[in-house]
Amino acid sequence: MKYSKAYQALKEKYKDMVKVWPEVTDPEKFVYEDVALAAYLLILWEEERAERGEPTRQSFVDLGCGNGLLVHILSSEGHPGRGIDVRRRKVWDMYGPETHLEESAITPNDKTLFPDVDWLIGNHSDELTPWIPVIAARSSYNCRFFVVPCCFFDFIGKYQRRQSKKTQYRGYLDFITEVGSTCGFHVEEDCLRIPSTKRVCLIGKSRTYPPAGEDSVDERRTRYINSRPGGPVSPPGQVPAPPPPGAAAGGADGPEGRGALDVGAGHTPESSAEGLWLSGFHPREKVKRVRNCAALPRDFIDRVVLQVANLLLGGKQLNMRSSQSRSAKAWNRGGSLSLAEVARELDRDTLRRLRRERGGLRTLLRNSSQVFHVLDGRVRLRDWREERPRKEKEPEAKRRLFSETFKTRICWFFTHHPDGCVLPSDRCPFAHGPGELRPATTRKKKQPL
Ligand SMILES: C[S@@+](CC[C@H](N)C(=O)[O-])C[C@H]1O[C@@H](n2cnc3c(N)ncnc32)[C@H](O)[C@@H]1O
Ligand SMILES: [Zn+2]
Repeated sequence: MKYSKAYQALKEKYKDMVKVWPEVTDPEKFVYEDVALAAYLLILWEEERAERGEPTRQSFVDLGCGNGLLVHILSSEGHPGRGIDVRRRKVWDMYGPETHLEESAITPNDKTLFPDVDWLIGNHSDELTPWIPVIAARSSYNCRFFVVPCCFFDFIGKYQRRQSKKTQYRGYLDFITEVGSTCGFHVEEDCLRIPSTKRVCLIGKSRTYPPAGEDSVDERRTRYINSRPGGPVSPPGQVPAPPPPGAAAGGADGPEGRGALDVGAGHTPESSAEGLWLSGFHPREKVKRVRNCAALPRDFIDRVVLQVANLLLGGKQLNMRSSQSRSAKAWNRGGSLSLAEVARELDRDTLRRLRRERGGLRTLLRNSSQVFHVLDGRVRLRDWREERPRKEKEPEAKRRLFSETFKTRICWFFTHHPDGCVLPSDRCPFAHGPGELRPATTRKKKQPL
């Protein structure tokens, strides 16, 4: 009741924003979602003031504030605060001087603390989401947090789900709750009344330990962060996922091999010297750039693909396919190598070029999925006999996409593998020679069934 009233009142007050919204995003969705969120926070804070008997309105910082509308509403409603985002938006100029928005990149370290702030907010704050409870916990004993998790990120890289019994979303909410509890918060979960699929918020309002327990809780936080994938004491075989879209490539200043692979992150001596909480976190870049290997020249990619395939086949020269080897012996599926082993075999120039691309070698090999299978930091040749045939139960759309791409590209194995393609031509989705090539159909938006 209280909420609906607050929501209606705010909606009326800020409805003109919809008319003047200068961003490309849908104004109705953004404005009303932010209004709903503001209504929720204003009531949460009002109740908190009543509980604590404190009349002063709580201060806040919105991390990854995007368009800044939430900051604008909360500030206009009397809460001192600011928003920080790595990329400023056009709409920022419309709010007036009372709305404080800063363009800067947040890196979790000893300098990114907010000792005088009551609440840290992370609404769909992507890479920052797991860090927000940590930043709040370390800012001061008094600092609280509010997050609405959306895309799934761990401390470094993508969050990888462990338990398939839960949905990815549930698993992620449980992970953020675990982060909050480990940081020493009582974490509460609630559901926002917004028409979004990601509407659960997690709130850390109070601590589970007395102020004197700070040091030992902080040691626990450090141990936990270091044990997550990508951390220095994460279980073996856990390599961080490639950085998220929009994030900087790993270790642009690191040594050749590491930068190209984006592995080996952790609490290194350098990271402690800089006050970093985990080296390997790189805030995303201000400007979105295409750096996912798609921009590399085709002949460069082809050369690396051939070189890596050659390594996997044990150094035998590829390209010259002899007809007797095709039928006489079993198809050579080659071995598997770790990405680090592959990187060691590549020349400096190739590595340097790969390092400039996001995800480096790993992404290039993953993009060449016809040829390679990349899993847990290891690569091997794809054995197309093991690819499951398209089943009836696969969604219609997926099957249609498959049939549309059937034989529209040349089979790499047919052309390059010493034993040719492991599949007969009628079962291979790729063309065995130019004679089989079909023209690629461009997909229209709406197609009759
Ligand atoms: C999905 S958007 C959400 C924006 C806004 N909170 C909202 O709900 O509309 C995530 C935002 O986080 C910002 N961001 C991501 N990583 C950041 C970092 N390390 N430092 C500052 N901002 C960051 C991005 O620029 C982006 O605007
Ligand atoms: Zn083939």
